[in-house]
Amino acid sequence: MPTLQQRYQRDGFLLFPDFVDAAAISSVRQRAQEIVTAFTPQDHPSIFSTDRQKHAVDAYFMASANDVRCFFEEHAFDAEGRLTREKALAINKIGHALHHLDPVFEAFSRTGALAEIATAIGLQQPQIWQSMYIFKQPGIGGEVGWHQDATFFDSEPITVTTFWFALEDASLENGCLWLEPGGHRGPLRERFVRHGDSAQLEKLDATPWPDQQHAIPLEVKAGTLVVFHGLLPHYSAPNRSPHSRHAYTLHVVDGASRYSARNWIQRDTAPRGFV
Ligand code: FE2
Repeated sequence: MPTLQQRYQRDGFLLFPDFVDAAAISSVRQRAQEIVTAFTPQDHPSIFSTDRQKHAVDAYFMASANDVRCFFEEHAFDAEGRLTREKALAINKIGHALHHLDPVFEAFSRTGALAEIATAIGLQQPQIWQSMYIFKQPGIGGEVGWHQDATFFDSEPITVTTFWFALEDASLENGCLWLEPGGHRGPLRERFVRHGDSAQLEKLDATPWPDQQHAIPLEVKAGTLVVFHGLLPHYSAPNRSPHSRHAYTLHVVDGASRYSARNWIQRDTAPRGFV
């Protein structure tokens, strides 16, 4: 019987069904709704309007590294730039320092159980660099194309590990995760590099993304934790169903590796771990 670490090294991911209980799920879901309710897009006309200004959009995104900010689904607006649905059903995600700035999310993100998993898969000094609440809204939940999370969290050596929590059942119908088992043994294809006040994708390697035959859909129940390697290719389809697919993610880098100064997320003080 392979150990957790052996399975992780072989497959590049691990599933933990029933990892989060219903009370913890409902606490973060409720808190996310409060954050969305308090969000006033009209305060940011140069970002959320028809005459979006690239500089303002970039600045809003880059500053979210150390803040709690809402982002809309791409298809939430009509041709005139008006929201086509209520705000609560139009938000794509909240990011990217929920774990650090919001007490409800911090309690969810820093637990002994997560620290144990991190140790079991070989992370020596797990440090949480980023958190996201993803809504994958009914009808308009956007596709997230094939990528590797190490693209956004480069380090030497690469240690970024994603902790992905299903807050609702995820199915083929509402845009569950797809991943390529064992694909973490392939190269890093792209790097998202910061250039002053913005960041851009750089192509590193021409290895193609997996086709349907080499990828598997992760249909998981609410409460499931998926842990996956930063080099593991993954994807999620658009959500055209009437059901949302809420999830929460943490990106963790080992403090024993050298975090790149060119990553878009930088912090003034060293990020903390799970405890
Ligand atoms: Fe990802």
